[in-house]
Amino acid sequence: MEVPKHIAIIMDGNGRWSKAHAKPRHFGHKAGLESLKKIIEAAAKRGVSYLTVFAFGIENWLRPNDEVNYLMNLFLTALRRDIGRLHENSIRVQFIGDRQRVHADLIRSMQEAESLTRDNSRMTLIVAFNYSGRWDIREACQRLAEKVAANQLSAADINEDLISQNLSTAAWPDPDLFIRTSGEQRLSNFLLWQLSYAELYFTDKHWPEFNEAELDKAIAFYAARERRFGKISEQLKGTENA
Ligand code: IPE
Ligand code: IPE
Ligand code: MG
Repeated sequence: MEVPKHIAIIMDGNGRWSKAHAKPRHFGHKAGLESLKKIIEAAAKRGVSYLTVFAFGIENWLRPNDEVNYLMNLFLTALRRDIGRLHENSIRVQFIGDRQRVHADLIRSMQEAESLTRDNSRMTLIVAFNYSGRWDIREACQRLAEKVAANQLSAADINEDLISQNLSTAAWPDPDLFIRTSGEQRLSNFLLWQLSYAELYFTDKHWPEFNEAELDKAIAFYAARERRFGKISEQLKGTENA
């Protein structure tokens, strides 16, 4: 079965899972972290090269203060506690997103995690933290505009590759498979540019219940798709009478 090279996930439904268990929302976030750890290992084991997860969106600052604070603490604690194991398992960890509003302690841990795991090659884990797709595109526009203003680039030479190269995800190929848990079928300002040809998989399972078997279902869904990229089926099979 063909395994997607790059999987991008919106880990959604921690709150609804908590509610279903009559627990406070932070209970679900904690359980969601356990799910993430299992899925990282499961994805690496299946030969996935890049796994991008949406951990915190720029819009998520709008949540109640105590939930935002809980999430920030959870990320910091998890990063400090679990980075050693990720490193032992040869996972490279990278972060994308706006670092400006992020607490200095967390930024330091993110930088340490990136440099510690820099040479790992089994799988790259990309954590979207304080990220939004529009923020990413705006940053790329700004970088390109600065080059034009400095006469290093002509506006007419701006092409799609150049835009891709100026996004925070420049180093990696676009996702092949997009997964969103917990029933919502929207992108919520995730990788807007990069998901243009991803296969979209939605499941009603909440993120804390998403496990290896659920990942296999998503991969099986992916493997059953014919990715035509604008062509027709016969062209892909080499049977067209062109
Ligand atoms: C996703 O679960 C986790 C984060 C945004 C960090 P939610 O917290 O969005 O869960 P629901 O959507 O309220 O169920
Ligand atoms: C998107 O989830 C961001 C993350 C999972 C980190 P939300 O659950 O906040 O998305 P909306 O606001 O319901 O679309
Ligand atoms: Mg949600």
